[in-house]
Amino acid sequence: MEITETEKIRDISEIKKRVEELKREKDAVILAHYYVDGEVKKMADYTGDSFYLAQTAHKIKNRIIVMAGVKFMGESVKILNPDKKVLMAEGSADCPMAHMTTEEEIMKVKEEYDDLAVVSYVNSTAEIKALSDACITSSNALMVISALKEKNILVIPDKNLGNYIREKIKDKNIITLDGCCPVHAEYRKDSLLKLKEEYPDAMVLSHPECRKEILELSDYTGSTSGIIKTAGESENQEFIIFTESGITDELEDLKKDERNKLKKFIFPEGFICADMKRITPETLIETLENEINEVVMQVDLRKKASKPLERMLVLGE
Ligand code: 13P
Ligand code: SF4
Repeated sequence: MEITETEKIRDISEIKKRVEELKREKDAVILAHYYVDGEVKKMADYTGDSFYLAQTAHKIKNRIIVMAGVKFMGESVKILNPDKKVLMAEGSADCPMAHMTTEEEIMKVKEEYDDLAVVSYVNSTAEIKALSDACITSSNALMVISALKEKNILVIPDKNLGNYIREKIKDKNIITLDGCCPVHAEYRKDSLLKLKEEYPDAMVLSHPECRKEILELSDYTGSTSGIIKTAGESENQEFIIFTESGITDELEDLKKDERNKLKKFIFPEGFICADMKRITPETLIETLENEINEVVMQVDLRKKASKPLERMLVLGE
C-alpha cells in the first residue's frame, strides 16, 4: 500500500518526537554535516562543516555522540572523545576519497624529502591520519599549512584541494598524489559555462574539491560554511554553486533575512553525495534506539591519529 504525504509527515514528526525522548533518556547529542538529509539536520543539535564538527566534538560533555555524516567524521569524533560512546547514524556511510592514499605512497614521498610535512585532509582514514604531521579541512587548510615550518608539504588524499593550496601558498612546495572526491571531481568546465550562459550575472561559488578548471572560473572558493557565508553576505542576487546540493537547506534559510529574500541558488544537476544521503531519519532513530554502529578504535591508533587532529584544532583556530 502506498504511503500518503500526510502519513509520511506524521511518521517524520513521530520520529522527531522519539529522537528527542531518546536524546534525553540516553544523554545523547547529534552532530550533522551540511550534506545530510534536511529532516536529519532538523533533529541534530549541531550542524556544520567538517572543521566546525571537529571543534564542537572536542567540547561535548554528553555520554553518547551520534554522527550524522560519513565514517571519517565519526572516527574524528572518537579520536577527540575517547571516553564517549560514538555512534554512526548509518554504519555504511563512508567517504570513498578517505581511502585513496596508501601508507606505501606516503613512505615513498618521505624517502624523497628530508624537510617534509605530511598533511592529511580530515577526509582520510584514522590510519592515514596516524601517519600525518597535521590535519586540515577546507576551511583551515591555508592557515594550518602556512603555520608549518617545513618547505615540502605532502597534501593527501585530495589532489584538487592540493592544487588549490598550491595556487594560494607560493612559498611551499605542495606535493599531491592521485586521490579526489568522485562527487566534486565529476564536474567539468562545460557544465559551469552552460549555467553561466543561462545566468550571466550569477556569482560562482565552489568547493576546493572541484577540479582546477572549475576553480579558475569561480568568484569564490571555500568550505561549505564559507560558501554559505559568502552567499549570505554578497550583494549579488544569483549564485551558481559547485558543491553538494545538501547545503540548499542552509542557503534557503538565508532568505529569512529581508536582504536575501530574492536570492536564487543554482546547482549543476545531480550534485549529490550518495554516501551522505544514506543517512535518513529511520537510520538515525535505529542507531539511537539500539545504540548500534559504534565507532571502535585501537588505543594505539587513536593516540597516533589524535596528534595531527589536535594540531589542526590549535593552528586552524
Ligand atoms: P567541508 O569541510 O567544507 O564541510 O567539506 C567536507 C566534504 O566532505 C566536502 O565534500
Ligand atoms: Fe567524500 Fe566527496 Fe562525499 Fe565529501 S562529497 S563525503 S569528499 S565523497
